[in-house]
Amino acid sequence: MSKKSVAEKDQNKDEILKDAISAKYGKIAVEGGSCCSSCEDHDPQAINKSLGYSYDEISLFPEAATGLGCGNPLALGEIKEGETVVDLGSGAGMDCFLARRKVGDGGKVIGIDMTEAMVEKARSNAILHKFDNVEFILGEIEDIPLDDASADVVISNCVINLSLDKEQVFREVRRILKPGGRVYLSDMVLTRELDDVDKDDVELHAGCVAGAVLVDDYLLAVRSSGLEVSDHSLDTGISDRQYDGRPVASIKLKAYRALM
Ligand SMILES: C[S@@+](CC[C@H](N)C(=O)[O-])C[C@H]1O[C@@H](n2cnc3c(N)ncnc32)[C@H](O)[C@@H]1O
Repeated sequence: MSKKSVAEKDQNKDEILKDAISAKYGKIAVEGGSCCSSCEDHDPQAINKSLGYSYDEISLFPEAATGLGCGNPLALGEIKEGETVVDLGSGAGMDCFLARRKVGDGGKVIGIDMTEAMVEKARSNAILHKFDNVEFILGEIEDIPLDDASADVVISNCVINLSLDKEQVFREVRRILKPGGRVYLSDMVLTRELDDVDKDDVELHAGCVAGAVLVDDYLLAVRSSGLEVSDHSLDTGISDRQYDGRPVASIKLKAYRALM
């Protein structure tokens, strides 16, 4: 095959994957449902509890508590009053609303999501809770529609694994962070390579498994962007709880943009 045909084939594959991701989360935004492969009865409350949210956190914003995350990024570090927080792949907005409680009236929270129906759902949830300093923007995390050095904190919950260019996402995170700005992430990673059938499974990619990379490759992508990793740990139990025992784990990662 010529170089041009290989590039075209790769581009087609990328488009198929992106369409599948948007279709999946668009449907969930409208009809509800889950991205986990082994939850027979998707119970967002039970999933959120197993991911480390407190009862209070789960019950404050039930319309936004869709149970699509793989951890609780806000539990990883401090967020101060008046700060600007950006959530990558904000879904129905739960982490944004929890961040809003921390930044208060004087801060700002911005959710970015590429799925129109999710953004609409999150916006109507913000109206419901009368939050006028929580904004949801339609956009891609590989090309974040925000200014350089405009965020104090970037959070994300179970999203970057879906991206086809994780290094570009982390470069964008570094770009929008102020020097000294912090990153709190939950995401899916692989604990060993998937077999070839799973690797090429589009539905499994949209379900946060087949797009995931090995832990070391994930950390390398973060570091190559210029971000400093301060801490990380793995929840391997999520494999049996939500992913049929596949070789995945949820990574909890803290990073920052150095001052200089
Ligand atoms: C698994 S859900 C997680 C949603 C939310 N973070 C939560 O914890 O409930 C993934 C979300 O990321 C969004 N998403 C996936 N890839 C994206 C990309 N490249 N750019 C922006 N949003 C993306 C999807 O539309 C979806 O709403």
